Amino acid sequence: MTGIRLNAPRPGWSVDADVVVVGSGVAGLTVALRCAAAGANVTVVTKARLDDGSTRWAQGGIAAALGEGDTPEQHLDDTLVAGAGLCSEEAVRALVTEGPDAVRRLIDTGALFDTDAGTGEILLTREGGHHRRRIAHAGGDATGAEISRALVEAVRAAGIETIEHALVLDLLKDADGRAAGVTLHVMGEGERDGVGAVRARAVVLATGGMGQVFSATTNPSVSTGDGVALALRAGAEVSDLEFVQFHPTVLWLGSDAEGQQPLVSEAVRGEGAHLVDADGHRFMAGAHELAELAPRDIVAKGIMRRMQELGAEHMYLDARHFGAEMWAHRFPTILAACRAHGIDPVTEPIPVAPAAHYASGGVRTDLHGRTTVPGLYACGEVACTGVHGANRLASNSLLEGLVFAERIAADIAASGPAAPHAADTGAEADTGAEAEAGAGTEADTGADTASGPAGPSAGHEPATPT
Ligand code: SIN
Repeated sequence: MTGIRLNAPRPGWSVDADVVVVGSGVAGLTVALRCAAAGANVTVVTKARLDDGSTRWAQGGIAAALGEGDTPEQHLDDTLVAGAGLCSEEAVRALVTEGPDAVRRLIDTGALFDTDAGTGEILLTREGGHHRRRIAHAGGDATGAEISRALVEAVRAAGIETIEHALVLDLLKDADGRAAGVTLHVMGEGERDGVGAVRARAVVLATGGMGQVFSATTNPSVSTGDGVALALRAGAEVSDLEFVQFHPTVLWLGSDAEGQQPLVSEAVRGEGAHLVDADGHRFMAGAHELAELAPRDIVAKGIMRRMQELGAEHMYLDARHFGAEMWAHRFPTILAACRAHGIDPVTEPIPVAPAAHYASGGVRTDLHGRTTVPGLYACGEVACTGVHGANRLASNSLLEGLVFAERIAADIAASGPAAPHAADTGAEADTGAEAEAGAGTEADTGADTASGPAGPSAGHEPATPT
């Protein structure tokens, strides 16, 4: 597919930058911070407010080999097994070896993780598919909210330009077919309004996932697949879109519940909760050596199978044995969400069922986050780096966002002095042509079609599609 554009009015305003980052979760804000630290002029655009994406909803945490006795090699093994043989081992190796230091840099950026009061060491928990405790968490079960807070504060402190309430429309390309910015529609907030353009020599897609295409999902309302849609229209390759991960334990609110549903983190099982049916039978015990902590796809299928066998609409997660104090201290977010829906996990099992959670595939990239369109990068959930294969290992996504964001920033910095400004390389003409073509949604089969696998700098093949 090549060069399709949305039918949109001509941009009425424009901003110039070296790098435009689309999206403001862990991946987008990390790219922005690292590029700005390297001296680039960065603009972040985001569809709602800076902290409205998926990152702030992440509960369980961020996986990295930080604990005593743990190694990147063990993290690699667990990731490859969860990915069902379809991960890119090279990409996973980059993730697990660079992960621990990337987490330390996140801490330096201001994120506060839960630590042991005595030793000061980061507390680590387990989740599905991990053979070790390696999940760092914050605020008990509010890890994403803390990471988002820290990154948003750092971006503001660094003076990085941000444009909120800006729905990204299409990629701009220069005369050579290289990314040269994006068009946006700002929806009535802030100093800019209507359709505009940010022109830049590098465009980073960090737009998150697409859970909202399913009737029930853990994803917020902004997760509508905008980045994948833009990339497809621009002629970029995508991979593994069929690998949508369903989280096994989402609070069951009735068969007609739609949109974002409350997550009940795998960390609850990591701390010892059991999955049971209405008779209290632990159906995952014996189904897999890790029982309730088997990789996520296996647990989700186990729940669905038991539901079908019994004709039930949901199963239960039983963590009454945690007691009131542990619930309040370790899982305050989940406790509050359950109680808001009339369920008290301290005294009753939680009704749960699987719901759409994470897009393991996305815009295909190489190990440096480069897509098949020169100058266009992707990271975070919108990307398919090859790390997740058919099934993402729990809590690898925040880590992937961090590690590949840093790789992208390094690649942009290494690509040398700023290219001639987009306005001098044909982007202006391209913007105009797009506006003139705006009377219909036409396929643009002209020179701005991306072709060939070369990324922004030659010599690196994109990750093998999995
Ligand atoms: C969870 O807390 O269970 C979600 C973690 C993840 O999606 O990786």
